[in-house]
Amino acid sequence: MPKENILITGATGLLGSSMVPYFKKCGYTVVTHALSSQADYVVDLSDRVKSYEILSKIHPSVIINLVGLTSVELCEEQVNLAYLVNTRTVENLADWIMHSGIACHLVQISTDHVYDSVGLHIEDDITITNNYAFSKYAGELAAIRVPSTILRTNFVGHSQVSHRESLTDWVYNSLTTAKNVQVLNDVYFSPISITMLVEMIELVVQKRPIGIFNIGSQNGMSKADFDFAFAESLNLPTNTMTRINTSSANFLKAYRPKDMRMDCSKFENKLGVKIPNLVDLIKQIAREYDEIA
Ligand SMILES: NC(=O)c1ccc[n+]([C@@H]2O[C@H](COP(=O)([O-])OP(=O)(O)OC[C@H]3O[C@@H](n4cnc5c(N)ncnc54)[C@H](OP(=O)(O)O)[C@@H]3O)[C@@H](O)[C@H]2O)c1
Repeated sequence: MPKENILITGATGLLGSSMVPYFKKCGYTVVTHALSSQADYVVDLSDRVKSYEILSKIHPSVIINLVGLTSVELCEEQVNLAYLVNTRTVENLADWIMHSGIACHLVQISTDHVYDSVGLHIEDDITITNNYAFSKYAGELAAIRVPSTILRTNFVGHSQVSHRESLTDWVYNSLTTAKNVQVLNDVYFSPISITMLVEMIELVVQKRPIGIFNIGSQNGMSKADFDFAFAESLNLPTNTMTRINTSSANFLKAYRPKDMRMDCSKFENKLGVKIPNLVDLIKQIAREYDEIA
């Protein structure tokens, strides 16, 4: 059982808000960090001096870095900010690990946006087509210089924070209020649930595999099929949901990859786990929404 000093950076976001209570429940000593929300440490980690200051105080044995600028649109509009948040922050964490000489393992959360050819993608299949992907990939290159596990992922499930809505929250909130929504027929992905991702990251903390790993669900599907399957699992009316292709999606300003589906066998083999297929995962996620309804 645990007994690590774990620093979770970006702990107040969509993933962090589920991760922090889970790790505490597992018995870890968890130190939280955010940029402006309430956390044990509130610091801009793109600032090197401030980053070194807090890291030298905390002396973590594991850092799970969830800091991110996740808006694809904002990353395209503000290239410099994307670099600072998605890349420089990781450079600062990794440099501190290197220079401190402390045995510290870095878990870096990256993205399936680094893929943009026909899936399923293995880890070498990189195609960078937007600045979110570019800045996150550069973050991976910073992380890989130190003992680290880099997890490329995409996650869905019930958000624990009101200011961050996941894809399933958006579908759930839209359909329960009969709001008209358009869902994408020609974008494919293979997300994992937040619940399962948090469990898998705990396993990563235990086993500390070195390298880059995809972590999603088996097979994947289009976002439209996912949204309809999720709605149907919850018996939500789908008459306000319309399938469209990205070419008619006026609400998307920045380019997005069409096929981000991942092959997760490297992670499964290394960690000795079986990742569920997306159809089963949707049913599991729907049960979580049933419980909160
Ligand atoms: N959301 C997805 O579907 C998805 C998919 C694939 C990969 N990822 C990756 O997973 C990670 C977690 O995503 P998320 O959705 O949980 O993110 P999120 O909800 O946007 O949360 C981001 C966190 O980073 C902090 N932060 C932002 N800029 C910072 C800075 N300059 N210095 C220090 N902290 C800063 C925020 O603090 P405040 O709350 O105080 O602002 C917040 O705690 C990210 O790296 C993201 O790229 C996300």
